[in-house]
Amino acid sequence: MKHKILVTGGVGYIGSHTTVELINAGYEVVIIDNLSNSNINVLDGIEKITGVRPAFVEGDCTSIETLRKVFTEYKGIDGIINFAASKAVGESVEKPLLYYRNNLLTLINLLDLMPEFGVKGIVFSSSCTVYGEPDENPVTEKAPIKPATSPYGNTKQVSEEIITDYIHSGVNIKSILLRYFNPVGAHPSSEIGELPNGVPNNLIPYLTQTAIGIRKELSVFGNDYDTPDGSCIRDFIDVVDLAKAHVVAMERMLEDKSEERLEVFNLGTGNGLSVLQLIDVFEKSTGVKVPHKIVGRRAGDIEKVWANPEKANNVLGWKAETPIEETMRNAWNWQMKLRERGIM
Ligand code: WQD
Repeated sequence: MKHKILVTGGVGYIGSHTTVELINAGYEVVIIDNLSNSNINVLDGIEKITGVRPAFVEGDCTSIETLRKVFTEYKGIDGIINFAASKAVGESVEKPLLYYRNNLLTLINLLDLMPEFGVKGIVFSSSCTVYGEPDENPVTEKAPIKPATSPYGNTKQVSEEIITDYIHSGVNIKSILLRYFNPVGAHPSSEIGELPNGVPNNLIPYLTQTAIGIRKELSVFGNDYDTPDGSCIRDFIDVVDLAKAHVVAMERMLEDKSEERLEVFNLGTGNGLSVLQLIDVFEKSTGVKVPHKIVGRRAGDIEKVWANPEKANNVLGWKAETPIEETMRNAWNWQMKLRERGIM
């Protein structure tokens, strides 16, 4: 029997890649997205890759009535994967209420409607930002949660607490919290990828836009950190590997593979790479130079954070497999495709 999954924010970067993997795994997908930070043409890319065009509702998940209509129209939704959220760290400092309203009200509405419509499980898109600057690396799920350094990071922590309290209240639902490290790359088909609006905040889109000449030079935010080459260290995880983890997590809940009603998993490769090392990997794996310069540190940056993925590997039964060189080539191919299509 085909399970039906509601993917909120499903035409976004990680949402679209997850929709592809859900369809490939035989799930029926319904997407709701308010298109505030994504483009409806992504549906064409999903269809080109899978041969299936998922049902799509343009709507805002902060409206419970909008969501109730979706559950009423698309009967039999078994699970939810919630990506719909604002996610720019810097913007969240300037507009905290937008972030608390959008990210928390969306989640509360979804949780509220799950028992009403018999929805069994929800996968929540969380982040390694909940760990702040970890006391030690690699980071396990047992690492202490540190006070958030931005409203964005706080919405992830509070969301995890909301889900935890709701499940502990005895409601008959399950949840898996997936704490992403740094998602990067694009689908190998170059039909979908990261499509940031305006000047990218994140490293890889800025790097590939510099490599293709849209940006003059990549600024490396600091080389005076306590790391081998002085630049920050991250765990860069391929977006398709990340997407596949969501399918495994959803199956774990819907097929009752665990007694637990609430589980948490770190999604990373287990390898820490510095910013300068990643630039070097990009240049070597694509043959394309990235003009860059060292500038001052960016406020709020974590010095070094990378995952211990053993729990996801051994309990969830998922492992990041894509070599970083291939991920960088996919990111570059996607940037060239955007140029080819005249999109940027
Ligand atoms: C990575 C490294 C920068 C841009 C954040 C959120 C996380 C997730 C991903 C949403 C840092 C350096 C970056 C640039 C640079 N958010 N950098 N020059 O900050 O690790 O994580 O985005 O899903 O939850 O916290 O990602 O890509 O912004 O930065 O030197 O132009 O690259 O200093 O060390 P970050 P990032």
